[in-house]
Amino acid sequence: MSEQKLYPVKANIADNCLLNDQQYLDMYQESITQPDQFWGKHGSELLDWIQPYTKVKNTSYDPGHVSIKWFEDGLLNVSANCIDRHLQERGDEVAIIWEGDNPEEDSKLTYNELYQQVCKFSNALKQQGVKKGEVVCLYMPMVPEAAVAMLACTRIGAVHSIVFGGFSPEALAGRIIDSNSKYVITADEGVRGGRGVPLKANVDQALENPDCEFVKSVVVLKRTGGEVNWNANRDVWWHDITENQAADCPPEPMNAEDPLFILYTSGSTGKPKGVLHTTGGYLLYATMTFRYVFDYHPGDIYWCTADVGWITGHSYLVYGPLANGATTILFEGVPNYPTSARMSEVCDKHQVTILYTAPTAIRALMAQGDAAVQGTSRSSLRIMGSVGEPINPEAWEWYYRTIGDERCPIVDTWWQTETGGILITPLPGATALKPGSATRPFFGVQPALVDNEGNVLEGAAEGNLIIKDSWPGQMRTVYGDHERFEQTYFSTFPGTYTTGDGARRDEDGYFWITGRVDDVLNVSGHRMGTAEIESALVAHPKISEAAVVGVPHEIKGQGIYAYITLNAGEEASAELHKEVKAWVRKEIGPIATPDILHWAEALPKTRSGKIMRRILRKIATNETDSLGDTSTLADPSVVDKLIEEKSNAA
Ligand code: PRX
Repeated sequence: MSEQKLYPVKANIADNCLLNDQQYLDMYQESITQPDQFWGKHGSELLDWIQPYTKVKNTSYDPGHVSIKWFEDGLLNVSANCIDRHLQERGDEVAIIWEGDNPEEDSKLTYNELYQQVCKFSNALKQQGVKKGEVVCLYMPMVPEAAVAMLACTRIGAVHSIVFGGFSPEALAGRIIDSNSKYVITADEGVRGGRGVPLKANVDQALENPDCEFVKSVVVLKRTGGEVNWNANRDVWWHDITENQAADCPPEPMNAEDPLFILYTSGSTGKPKGVLHTTGGYLLYATMTFRYVFDYHPGDIYWCTADVGWITGHSYLVYGPLANGATTILFEGVPNYPTSARMSEVCDKHQVTILYTAPTAIRALMAQGDAAVQGTSRSSLRIMGSVGEPINPEAWEWYYRTIGDERCPIVDTWWQTETGGILITPLPGATALKPGSATRPFFGVQPALVDNEGNVLEGAAEGNLIIKDSWPGQMRTVYGDHERFEQTYFSTFPGTYTTGDGARRDEDGYFWITGRVDDVLNVSGHRMGTAEIESALVAHPKISEAAVVGVPHEIKGQGIYAYITLNAGEEASAELHKEVKAWVRKEIGPIATPDILHWAEALPKTRSGKIMRRILRKIATNETDSLGDTSTLADPSVVDKLIEEKSNAA
């Protein structure tokens, strides 16, 4: 065994875990050697099909012919799997617990109630003209209606495209245009951390973009009752269009490969990509990973703190838990409002048994010490998860000891928007834990490490993380741009899926994700392309050039460090500093606001004009004694100037 100490396999979950180590190994073996048999069996056991499939896996990573199909002749409906099939046995059990931003506000929705709400809203959407296959954009706060809207789309065969409520009107408009969403669902305002979020006003502003003229209707949920502007030709209230609808709506039979949703995510180049997931494979993968990774048992109260605007909110707040008939908590607020004990208080209040959150939240609470658990017992918890970025061992230990009282196994789950569900993770009861390691692959997942030339590295090694073959939850294409899909994920190391992450494998075969190897940042678990932030910066009328790099940040994991050169005649000032930060907030959203601005006279470029980011990264992190070779720069003196300027960066 490695230098790392191993944590108990079981902690307090005694002997009733779904799997032990040997069972995991046996199932893993079968999933790799006989994928058709393995997934064929689990697909019919875990999901209800309107028409059973006869084919299971039909996938190719061949360059120029990448094609991914699972269960391609089966028919099913996602909302029927998440709701209808549970009604007979557990119709009166709670599907969704809503916990408001304000600790005094909460509510519960049983499966029966969820069924009625989803059917009514499905009928309302149909009446608005939404057709099977059309894209509906959701720009919603964290309220049960967000899940209702998602499920209603799936019920009638519409494709949802959720845009995180923290994105700006400009970012929203871009996604509406790219996905051709003729319908937008939003709320008057959201509430987070005691503050209002002007969702409807943002939609209004987005739709001022002339390229959004095709938008037919905006459905507005009344969340706060705050004032909103009204466009009678376009806007309708959620309650008005829903109240008189029938509480029954037959689920549309969907082909397993029909599109289920689009979700935009950032890459190293260009605009965010519309990641497309389809129906059958995605749902099976979300359902099965939820069950095994969180060792789900009936009666569990499960809380994932992610927003529905991210993939974690899709797979592990809504689809995975509901397909399993679980009780899922939907939390409107943030883990440290009104006090840093909020997360622990919510655990006690609702007797949470499974908690799934992000390292950035853990680190923010850790900084508050015991205040994060003050007056709480958290004794209901039995399993805790982490997702979104590497969890540093110190934060892992704190989570394990302080939040979990050394009783709960931690599942450090590695995955991506593109993967649809968790790919590398411990399984409670089966996997001995090492703080900071995502450990071993889930069923059907074949990770490998390659060097930059694509040579496969064996044994203990560090390199680029690739996946050798397809799994059911994999994205199928970039919406409207299959070539970009092939280019981004299948061309760097042909014949395999390129994750964009680096990883180390230790002598026990455990994986340790080291972070992105491309120009993608991970700020508080939010994924952002440096190119995206740079293009927002250079859109500012006073900015000539910009280069963005990530720097280590104690709470956020990574912070955003922006080098900016101004147009001739422009001067840096405190005012411009503020203006530039506000500009990025407006262009993309608050999550993309640079932490540090560095006014640079010039950027380091090669003779062919390429910006040398390696040097910018080193300067930003004060590693100036290891700058490497600077002789290939068009003007090597730029480097000294940058180092000098750094003292004014703020
Ligand atoms: O770098 C990895 C990091 O987050 C990236 C994916 O981001 P996104 O598509 O927004 O999905 C986040 C939620 C699944 C990955 O390429 N990442 C995610 N989980 C982990 C992680 N890095 C290390 N450990 C993790 N558990």
